[in-house]
Amino acid sequence: MSEDRRLHFPATERNRAPILAVLERVLPREGVVLEIASGSGQHVVSFARALPSISWQPTDADPAHVASIDAWRASEAAENVAPALLLDVEAQPWPVRRADAIFCANMIHIAPWSACLALLDGAASLLGPDAPLVIYGPFREGGAHTAASNEGFDASLRARDPRWGVRDLDEVLAEARARGLVHDSTVRMPANNLTVVLRRSRAPGRRSMG
Ligand SMILES: C[S@@+](CC[C@H](N)C(=O)[O-])C[C@H]1O[C@@H](n2cnc3c(N)ncnc32)[C@H](O)[C@@H]1O
Repeated sequence: MSEDRRLHFPATERNRAPILAVLERVLPREGVVLEIASGSGQHVVSFARALPSISWQPTDADPAHVASIDAWRASEAAENVAPALLLDVEAQPWPVRRADAIFCANMIHIAPWSACLALLDGAASLLGPDAPLVIYGPFREGGAHTAASNEGFDASLRARDPRWGVRDLDEVLAEARARGLVHDSTVRMPANNLTVVLRRSRAPGRRSMG
């Protein structure tokens, strides 16, 4: 029997129901949803089951995660999930032709700031007018942490890699705005996380992908 390559991320089990409640509200009814930094693949298979009229395209920069996503896809027989793509947000243009929405959980703080900017660049380039980019994770607000747990998490991230760290919402929104991604809404989530919904404006913004 082949090796089971499915990874299990405990936080993903805990946060998927509250995230799904937001996605049900903000995603288009149908079309292609591109997931950036899918990780284990647990999110995408559970969201795909709950929202079957959407075609899901998972991706990740880590080949072991791509293998895990595909193992979850196979074990759940998730027909509306495409095979996972190896996609590093910083390697542009992305190997994706179409996205009607983009979802990215827990990546921008566990990567250099340049990865957050690359996520915004890629989304601005790929999404059509009004299409959403949904970012989930911990954020600072007004330059300050919103909870002691986030402050400790931020310190642990920076100890692992000084380029990592919990991002400031205002800075993310300013960079998004500069790329034609306007702030739609911010939803407060359990465990001091946020879901931030941005939408591609109708006016052309800066585009970095060809
Ligand atoms: C903490 S995990 C989050 C996984 C999943 N989204 C979740 O919430 O369970 C962070 C993920 O970001 C991915 N990642 C880090 N840097 C990346 C980059 N430059 N481009 C794409 N994915 C990246 C990692 O491989 C990892 O799967």
